[in-house]
Formats: sequence, C-alpha cells, structure tokens
Amino acid sequence: MEGRLALEGCLLILFGATGDLAFRKLLPALYQLEKNKQLGSDFAVIAVSRKNYSTEEYLNRSREAVKRHIEREFDTALWEQLKKRIHYQQLDFTKERDYDALNKTLKDLDEVIKADGNRLFYLATSPKYFEVITGYIKSKDLYNENRGWKRLMVEKPFGRDLSSARELNQALTRVFNEEEIFRVDHYLMKEMVQNLIMIRAGNQIFEPTWNREHIDHVQIISMESEGVGARGEYYDQSGALRDMVQNHMLQMLALTAVELPGNLTADNLREEKIKILESLIPLKKDSIREQMVLGQYAGYREENGVQQDSSAETFAAIRVFLNHPRWIGVPFYLKTGKGLTEKAARIVIQYRLPIGSCCVGEMKAIEYPNRLTINIQPREGVVLSFNTKEPGTLNTLVPVNMDFCQNCLIGMNTPEAYEKLLSDAINGDQTSFTHWKEVEASWKWSDILTDWTDKNPDTVRTYSKGSGGPQEAEDLIEREPGRKWI
Ligand SMILES: NC(=O)c1ccc[n+]([C@@H]2O[C@H](COP(=O)([O-])OP(=O)(O)OC[C@H]3O[C@@H](n4cnc5c(N)ncnc54)[C@H](OP(=O)(O)O)[C@@H]3O)[C@@H](O)[C@H]2O)c1
Repeated sequence: MEGRLALEGCLLILFGATGDLAFRKLLPALYQLEKNKQLGSDFAVIAVSRKNYSTEEYLNRSREAVKRHIEREFDTALWEQLKKRIHYQQLDFTKERDYDALNKTLKDLDEVIKADGNRLFYLATSPKYFEVITGYIKSKDLYNENRGWKRLMVEKPFGRDLSSARELNQALTRVFNEEEIFRVDHYLMKEMVQNLIMIRAGNQIFEPTWNREHIDHVQIISMESEGVGARGEYYDQSGALRDMVQNHMLQMLALTAVELPGNLTADNLREEKIKILESLIPLKKDSIREQMVLGQYAGYREENGVQQDSSAETFAAIRVFLNHPRWIGVPFYLKTGKGLTEKAARIVIQYRLPIGSCCVGEMKAIEYPNRLTINIQPREGVVLSFNTKEPGTLNTLVPVNMDFCQNCLIGMNTPEAYEKLLSDAINGDQTSFTHWKEVEASWKWSDILTDWTDKNPDTVRTYSKGSGGPQEAEDLIEREPGRKWI
C-alpha cells in the first residue's frame, strides 16, 4: 500500500497466542499488515501457548477472532495468504524441555523463510512470566546470538511500583539490552498522539506560543463510559492510578510538554521526554488532598472479580506541575476514569486571555480564551477555538470553533495502534516505545500517589455511573477562574 513501509523479514514469536490480546488485537493487526502488503516472504509467526492445539485448530480459532475484530469485511483469500505464515507451538512457559522443541521449530523455519536469524519475541502474557520466558530465551539459545537482530516486545503493566518495575527490568536486561526492548504503551501509537509533535513542528502558529507565557493550563483527559467489564480481577489490584496515570496519562503529558529536538530521532525525542518526566514535581503528602481527587463508580463492588469491600479507584483527577523552564507555574490537569459520561480521550491547551481589553467604541474585557483541542479517540482531529465579532454587532466577541475531524474524512483510514506497534518494532523504530528511564521517572512520581492512596482509602468518593465523576473533581479545576473540564 502506498506510503506504508515494507517490513523487514523476521520470525515473530508470539508468547500468549491464545489470549485476549492476541485474538482481539495482534492477529487482526497482522491481517491488516498482510492486507497492506507490508509482509514479505521472509516473515513468519510462531504462535506459542499452553493449549494443546494443532496448527489447524489454532488457525480456525484465529480466523474467527480476526473476522470478529476487524472493522471491514473479511477477505477469505487474504486470510489464506496470512495463515500460511502462522505456525502453532504448544509450550508451557515454565517447562524447560518445551523450549527445546521451540528452538528446533525456529531453526527449521529460519532455513525455510530466510529471515537472516532476525527474531521478534512478543510477550503477550502476564508479566509474572517475563523473567522465566526471557531466561529460557537465553539459556535455550533462542536468542541465537550470532545471527540477525533480536527484539523483545513487552506489554503493560510494567511493574506495580518502582521497585517491582526495577526488578522486572533487571530480569529483561539480563538477556536483552535497552535498544532491543520495546515496552508497549499503545496510547503512543494513536494517530493523534503522534500527530501532536507534528502539529507543533509543522506549524509556526503553535510552537512559538507553546509555553508558560501564553498557555494558561493543559488538560489531559481519557474517559471510558463502560465499567471494568471482564477485567475486574486485574483492575481491582491496579486501580486508575496504576492502570492509566503512571503510563498512558504521563506519556501524553510528556509528549505535550516535550522540548522539540532539532532532529526528531527516536533517541532525541525519548531523551527530551525523559527530561519532562524527571521534572514532574512530586505531590506533597500533606497537600495531596488538594491536588488529587479519586472516585469509584457506584456498583463497582458488584462487578465480577472485584472485592466486596474494594477501595480501588476507578477515577482520578490530578493537578500536576513541572519543574521545567517552559512550564513553571502552568498546571497540567489529568482526568481519567471508567463509568463516565462518554468514551473520549483528548488533550486541551487553554491559552491565556489576551492582555488589554477590547474593543472599538466600548472597552470590554475579553472573556473567552483560545483553546486548542487535540481529539484522540473516538473522534480524531483538532479543534481551534477563537474569538470573532458577532455579525451585526459593533464589538461583541463570540467564541467559534475551527473543527478538523480526521477520521470523518473518507480515505483517511487510521492504522490501528497494534498495526503500528508491530510494524515499528519489526523495523526497529523505538520512537513510540517507552525507554526504561521514562518508566522509572513515571513510577518515582506515581509511587507517592499510590502509597498515599493505599493508606487513605477513605478519600475515594463514590460517583454515579454515567456522570462526570465526583463533584470534587470539578472543584479541583474550577478553583481557578476561567477553568473547567472540556
Ligand atoms: N487484553 C488486552 O486488551 C490488554 C491490553 C493491554 C495490555 N494487556 C497485557 O497483555 C498481556 C496479555 O493479556 P491478555 O488479556 O491477552 O491475557 P490472557 O487472555 O490471560 O492471555 C494469556 C496468554 O498467556 C498464556 N499462558 C498463561 N500461562 C501460560 C503458561 N504457563 N504457559 C503457556 N502459556 C501460558 C495463555 O494461554 P492459555 O490460553 O493456554 O491459558 C494465553 O495465551 C498482559 O500482560 C496484559 O496486562 C492486555
């Protein structure tokens, strides 16, 4: 497909190939890459899992999953092409001898597909298995030291606090080095999150005003209308701070606040993001209540897998400041939660009001700030709010919107996040994967919040499902005049 990169040849070894992520996201993404003609004859998938399937059985299940999860019509001929690349290998992550069989399969396939020994290991399974799997990758020679490149993709959660994240990272780096580790944060693959940098870099009207002199505050919002659904057990151990804030929300903050490097390489951009995350000002324990509001939707405790007396937060709103010359004094308001009014993610840049007053004839203060809203999902686009004269009046200003909706345009098909994840990792582009130092800085800052929350469960407010969250979250932002959640 025009504009889409052909991918390097490799063996993709998918651990956890019968899981929800594999069936719902990864196989449909592979189908799409096949459709885009990005896969060459030197690409194959070894689907690895505990279930005792034959390749035929696995392919039948995969076919149904792809059918269910792709947005467009299923193309049987295309599937027939893709399925030739997929081989199922039964393996228990904890059984040493199973890795010998996997090693043989990889060696045999290497000979047939001629991928130069390139291997991408995707751990689509619980992080509790990461250490044992990577250990066997090394000890059983799946790493295949002397030929081709090796890469490791790992899913979130990357630890549940700084110390467990460090342990996990030490386990991975005993086998793979930082340049070989691709830590997935699928928010970074969302088209408009990636576009944020390009909008700044590509438009002279935004970058010169992207600072404390011109910006009043920033809002980073990610809301779900649904509850926890089938993920109750996992979510109850995690809560919104660990599930969303430490990773996705701080990543969006970092990309919004980052200094644009002159040369936009993966290393340069990630280096600048690390500086932003290291500049997060830690919340002080004695004033956390004024900076953070937590909530739990009514009925959460009746969800499957959730403890009856659970105090897990399904909502968090936080006011954050950065110790960074560009942003000193500018609050970043984060809001995320489940069971809210709508499913939406957006970043809002609210500018300061113009200095002085308006207008010809009668002097009036200007009431409406300019606002740049980056809509991330489900609507993708950019809205610029500005003031204009109300027709027929001499000097009345009214706010209006210039609204660009990217995914409303026919032909602007946005690639799914997992399609991009796979293609970037196969081509070795780490730009949209998180560096260990980003993870480390995020946990350092978040640990204070999660520790405090674990010790102060009484601060979690109940809110009605389908509402905007606890009233205190409105108060948090409206404390300052001219600010409210968008
Ligand atoms: N699902 C999502 O939407 C999503 C989103 C973001 C991140 N993630 C992360 O992605 C990872 C996978 O999530 P998931 O939802 O796909 O989990 P899942 O549905 O529980 O799948 C786990 C997979 O691991 C396999 N497995 C478990 N124990 C095994 C063992 N001892 N030996 C061999 N195979 C074993 C399972 O095989 P069996 O089928 O044989 O049990 C299954 O294929 C997790 O880290 C999760 O946090 C998931």
